[in-house]
Amino acid sequence: MTLAAKVPLKHAQEVKGFLMEHRLFDPQHGFRKDSSSIFFPISKKLGLKKSFPYIEFVDVELDILDRKKNLRATLSQSLSKEELAVLRRAFDIMGTIAIIEIPPEAVKKERLIAETILKLQKNVKTVLKKSGIHDTEFRTQPMEYVAGVNTKETVHREHGVMLKLDVEKVYFSPRLSTERARIASQVKPGESVLVMFSGCAPYPCVIAKNTKAKEVLGIELNPLGHKYGLENIRLNKIRNVTLINGDVKDIVPELKRKFDRIVMPLPKSAGDFLDVAFSASKKGTIIHFYAFEEEGKFDAAEKRVLAACKKAGVKCKILRTVKCGQHAPHVFRICVDFKIL
Ligand SMILES: C[S@@+](CC[C@H](N)C(=O)[O-])C[C@H]1O[C@@H](n2cnc3c(N)ncnc32)[C@H](O)[C@@H]1O
Repeated sequence: MTLAAKVPLKHAQEVKGFLMEHRLFDPQHGFRKDSSSIFFPISKKLGLKKSFPYIEFVDVELDILDRKKNLRATLSQSLSKEELAVLRRAFDIMGTIAIIEIPPEAVKKERLIAETILKLQKNVKTVLKKSGIHDTEFRTQPMEYVAGVNTKETVHREHGVMLKLDVEKVYFSPRLSTERARIASQVKPGESVLVMFSGCAPYPCVIAKNTKAKEVLGIELNPLGHKYGLENIRLNKIRNVTLINGDVKDIVPELKRKFDRIVMPLPKSAGDFLDVAFSASKKGTIIHFYAFEEEGKFDAAEKRVLAACKKAGVKCKILRTVKCGQHAPHVFRICVDFKIL
């Protein structure tokens, strides 16, 4: 579901102009119409109701824009069949920055591809290309400038929050937006939530802004990720989030306290931190455990959770296991939600 402004058709143009001017469009989704209204995907409600009292805010199903299809169609005149074939993956947009993957076969055309993206996506001001893999402790990925404004810092908007970050030096994935909303939708009023591996604080900010959680504590190892996290809680005027810079393994035991919910968004090695999560859990704590698993083998993550619980003498109940994104061909990011009994 996506937040949308429902606007009577006769007012569509004026609202569209305002949304563009104030950068309120959610660039990930397309709009939809019915016989009397248009539904514009929006990233926040800022000032809209005041300027256009007839607007209704609704949660609706809107299509995710297929940017790859659009880009390939536009480039089909200027790239050879072989070059087009290598534009394999859809590109990500973080704030005003588009991040593309250019395979070696298409390097000579990277500038043309980037310029086409700048023309097609009016909200994009910079195009960077990935130039390595996420193999660092901070899960960051080297990026090279290709076209537009030469910067790696941007402000991304999702679920009513602004997230400022350097896209090269701090991990962030806009593709996890739906997953963050899924977690936030489960948070009950008064909960205390621990977000391990909090990065620039997307989970803490989305939870704090969209729920009645009492408090959210985030822990992040990357000092720059932590610095952006602090800036993001200020940017969003959030008061119930505390962020700590350090290693989850050192910080959690020092806290000497328990949480109602623990989020573990480090799929590559969250299993190594399950005992730390248990030490901050009590009866009823819900843990969201992320992992990468091959299609058809999702029960491997559940088995790891059950084995860790058994080893620690903790009783638990698996609530559900959900697919929350693709990591590699046939490999998915999944989340096992389980409850401590
Ligand atoms: C996959 S990223 C997720 C970041 C953020 N939660 C998000 O969704 O954008 C994992 C994060 O965990 C951090 N990290 C890795 N090991 C850690 C540790 N032992 N303690 C705290 N943070 C850690 C990395 O620096 C990285 O920012």
